[in-house]
Amino acid sequence: MKILITGGAGFQGSHLCEKYVKEGHTVICYDNFMNGDLSNIRSLLGHRNFKLVKADIRDFDTLEKNSIGCDSIFHLAAQIHVDRSVVDPKETYDINVLGTLNTLEIARRHDVDRVIVASSSEVYGSAKSVPMNEDHPLEAPHPYGASKTAADRMCFAYSQTYSMPINIIRCFNIYGPKQKDTGYGGALSIFTKRVLSGIPPIIYGDGKQTRDYMYITDCVKAYDLVLKSKKFNGGVINFGTGQETSILDLANIIIKISKKDLKPVFVDPRPGEVDRLIADITRAKKLFGFKADYSIERGLTELINWYKHYKQEEWTKPG
Ligand SMILES: NC(=O)c1ccc[n+]([C@@H]2O[C@H](COP(=O)([O-])OP(=O)(O)OC[C@H]3O[C@@H](n4cnc5c(N)ncnc54)[C@H](O)[C@@H]3O)[C@@H](O)[C@H]2O)c1
Repeated sequence: MKILITGGAGFQGSHLCEKYVKEGHTVICYDNFMNGDLSNIRSLLGHRNFKLVKADIRDFDTLEKNSIGCDSIFHLAAQIHVDRSVVDPKETYDINVLGTLNTLEIARRHDVDRVIVASSSEVYGSAKSVPMNEDHPLEAPHPYGASKTAADRMCFAYSQTYSMPINIIRCFNIYGPKQKDTGYGGALSIFTKRVLSGIPPIIYGDGKQTRDYMYITDCVKAYDLVLKSKKFNGGVINFGTGQETSILDLANIIIKISKKDLKPVFVDPRPGEVDRLIADITRAKKLFGFKADYSIERGLTELINWYKHYKQEEWTKPG
């Protein structure tokens, strides 16, 4: 296969690039390095099946030129920071909505077999009920979430208007090596760096707020099932574990695995923080038998080992 991965130098994208180059496919990694990192894909540079294109998703002609002959597209490129979307909502809209529209239009013109688009659980907003299934109302309360919603619905519109099978993936919190400690990686990466440096993690509120954390290896497995499924192509799917972990438990597990004698420090809650976010993964289970393999303890153990080996300089400067 020839696979285009937009946002391929980012956290999730670089893991997908590695997997598919290793499997012998040709991978075009398309990224403008707004949040991506060359170190994420360094091991692939110079590989005959790997092509890096440093360009913007908003540049239709360059994107189209590099999509010719592709069998599949993973569209992951996005401005992922809520704070940045609040400061400059137009930039986030342009990248996330117009970038997705460019990708869809190119897929349509060139009859790409499989289109897999990273939407987000952020499209749901605060949970009306948990776990959250794909029919949960879309009430994103910030420009980032609204931009992902617009892109998500544009995918749906393309699938209806042009009978294109588009796979719309709503990831909950994915974590793992290569993730930056901003955006989705926030609390988890910051806790890890602080604890490894012997500094207690800071918890906003009582720490009882929960999230659904899925390890990157499980996320890649789920994307791969969507790419290769014979029965399924097209629709909205949650990616998560279906398990909830409280922020307090997360902090304590990191402390335990790191073997540090620390206790979390509690500070005032942050206004507007969501209480519970858990994915209902019934659809992914039914459609292609997805089940996460990594418990939170196992995923965090791998992440902490990675930090120790590869990120020593960075984790001595905790956020
Ligand atoms: N990581 C998570 O937990 C999570 C959860 C839900 C949804 N998502 C979605 O998954 C996708 C990947 O997220 P990630 O965590 O890997 O983020 P990331 O920031 O590491 O990856 C996004 C990549 O897109 C690139 N990019 C940004 N603007 C671009 C532009 N204008 N042109 C070309 N490339 C551009 C960035 O440089 C970066 O490499 C995103 O679409 C995100 O919204 C992620």
